[in-house]
Amino acid sequence: MLNKEIHRRRTFGIISHPDAGKTTLTEKLLLFGGAIQEAGAVKSNKIKKGATSDFMEIERQRGISVATSVLAFEYQDIKINILDTPGHKDFAEDTFRTLTAVDSVIVVIDVAKGVEEQTEKLVEVCRMRNIPIIVFVNKLDREGKDTFELLDEIEQKLHLKVTPLSCPIGIGYDFKGIYNIWEKNVNLFSGDSRKNIEETIEIENLNDGTLDELITSKAANTLREELELMEGIYPEFNKDEYLNGHLQPVFFGSALNSFGVRELLDCFIEIAPTPRPKESDTRLVSPDEKEFSGFVFKIHANMDPKHRDRLAFVKIVSGTFERNKPYLHVRNNKKMKFSSPNAFFAEKKQIVDISYPGDIVGLHDTGNFKIGDTLTEGENMNYRGIPSFSPEHFKFINNADPMKSKQLEKGIDQLMDEGVAQLFILELNGRKVIGTVGALQFEVIQYRLEHEYGATCRYENLNVHKACWVETDNEKSAEYLDFKRVKSRFLAKDKRGQLVFFADSSFTLQMTQSKYPNVKFHYVSEYK
Ligand code: G4P
Repeated sequence: MLNKEIHRRRTFGIISHPDAGKTTLTEKLLLFGGAIQEAGAVKSNKIKKGATSDFMEIERQRGISVATSVLAFEYQDIKINILDTPGHKDFAEDTFRTLTAVDSVIVVIDVAKGVEEQTEKLVEVCRMRNIPIIVFVNKLDREGKDTFELLDEIEQKLHLKVTPLSCPIGIGYDFKGIYNIWEKNVNLFSGDSRKNIEETIEIENLNDGTLDELITSKAANTLREELELMEGIYPEFNKDEYLNGHLQPVFFGSALNSFGVRELLDCFIEIAPTPRPKESDTRLVSPDEKEFSGFVFKIHANMDPKHRDRLAFVKIVSGTFERNKPYLHVRNNKKMKFSSPNAFFAEKKQIVDISYPGDIVGLHDTGNFKIGDTLTEGENMNYRGIPSFSPEHFKFINNADPMKSKQLEKGIDQLMDEGVAQLFILELNGRKVIGTVGALQFEVIQYRLEHEYGATCRYENLNVHKACWVETDNEKSAEYLDFKRVKSRFLAKDKRGQLVFFADSSFTLQMTQSKYPNVKFHYVSEYK
C-alpha cells in the first residue's frame, strides 16, 4: 500500500522570473487534472508594482499565498503536488526553502525575454541540489528568440545541458504548432484558448507528404532541417541523467493557449521522480520506511490576527502520517498530536486522516514550530537544516513603545520563526539587527508587528554588505582570537547561535579574508 502510494506521487515546484507564465501554466495543469473547471481560477500571488506601501495589497497577497501554497490534483491516477514558489525577488528566501521540499522542478522561460535574473538564481539553487529540471519555453504564440539561440542561452546562462523533447514549428504570427519528439507526433496550433485537448496527428515518417499538407512544404522542410540539427547537437534524452540533475529536457508551448501543456504533463508524470530519500543528521531516510518522518519547510501566519495560530507546512519524507497519532517534535523533545491536519486539493484545504511521502500536510500551530523542525515517530534525528542565505538589507530594530517590549520580543521571535527575515544579535551590545532579502520585508514586519502583536518598532540604518557565517577549525588559535578581538564590533550571532561577520563592503571582506586565511567566511548558514 505504502509503496503504491509513493509511486503515484510527484511533488514539484514551478519556478520562473515574474511574468514568464508560472501562474498560467499552473492553472492549465490544474485544468487538465480536472481540479478546476475554468481558467482564471488560480489567483496570481504576484505583488503588483508599487505595492510597497499598500498594505492591503500585502495582506491580499498573504491570503492568496496560503491558498496557493500547495495545489494538489490527480492526473491519470498520479497524485501531483505543486508547491508554490513566489517569483518576486524579495521573497526569494521563501522560494529557496520551498525548493528543499520538492522532488523536481519545471522552469518556465518566456521565449521573447529568454533567461532572466530570477530564473538564474533559482536554477542555481536547484543545480546545487541536483534537483531534476524540465524546462518549458512559453509564449510561442508571440514573437521571440530563435529556438537554437534560446537553447544556447539556456545552456550558457543556466549552466544546464539541455535536450529538446519538442520542436516548435514557426513562432509568433507564423506559429503553426509543435513536433513532439518524445511522442513522435505533430500538434497543430489553432490559437483557440478554450480548447483544452488539442488534436494530435501521428507522424510515423517525417518525410511523408502529410506533414507538407498540414503545415506547408516550406514549414515542413524547415522542421525537418531543424530536427536533424537538434539530433546532431543535443544528446539523446536519458532518464537517469535527468533524474541525477545532469540533463534537462526542454518543451515548447503557449500556456495561455493551453498549447504544449498536455505534452509537458504526459512526459512529466512518466519521467519525474517519485518522492526521493532524504539525508538526516544521522542517516539517509527512504520514503518506503514504515515509520513516519517529515520536516517543516514553511510556516504561515493565520490571516486572523486575533487568533495567533499558524499553519506549519510539513513535507512527509517517509511512512504514513496519521491524524491523532502522537509524533515526536525532535527539537523540543515533545510528543504532539494533530487532530486536524490539512491536506490541499487544488485551492481547497481539508482535514485528512492519512497522508503519504511526497504529500504536504498543514498543521495548526500555536508557536511550537520553526522552519526546519523535524517530526518523527520517536527516532532522534533531524533533517539537514534549511539554509539561510546572506540577507541583502540590514537595519537595527528598536522598540518605539517601552510599554510594549514583551509584545515586540514575541512578535519578532514569531516572525523570524516564520522565516520572514533573519535576526542577528550584535556580540558587542546585544542590539537586534534584522536582515532581509528585499526592502519590502521591513514594511511587512513593521505592519505585522503593529497589527498582530500591538508593538511598534523603529528602524535605524546599518551599513552591511554581506553577512558571512564564520567557520574555524580551532576556536583557540591565536589567529581566530585576534579576528574576534579586532572585528568585535562587526560580529553577531544568528538565531541558532552561529557566529556571523558583518562585512561593510566586498573590499573589507577581501582584506579580512587575506589577514585571517584560516578563518572561513560563508554566504550560506549550512556550509558543512
Ligand atoms: P507569472 O505567474 O510567471 O508571473 O506569470 P503569469 O502566468 O501571471 O503570466 C504573465 C502574463 O503573461 C499574463 O498577462 C499572462 O496572460 C501572459 N501569458 C502567459 N502565458 C502566455 C502565453 O503562452 N502567451 C501569451 N501571449 N501570453 C501569456 P498579463 O497581461 O500580465 O496578465 P492578465 O491580465 O492576462 O492576467
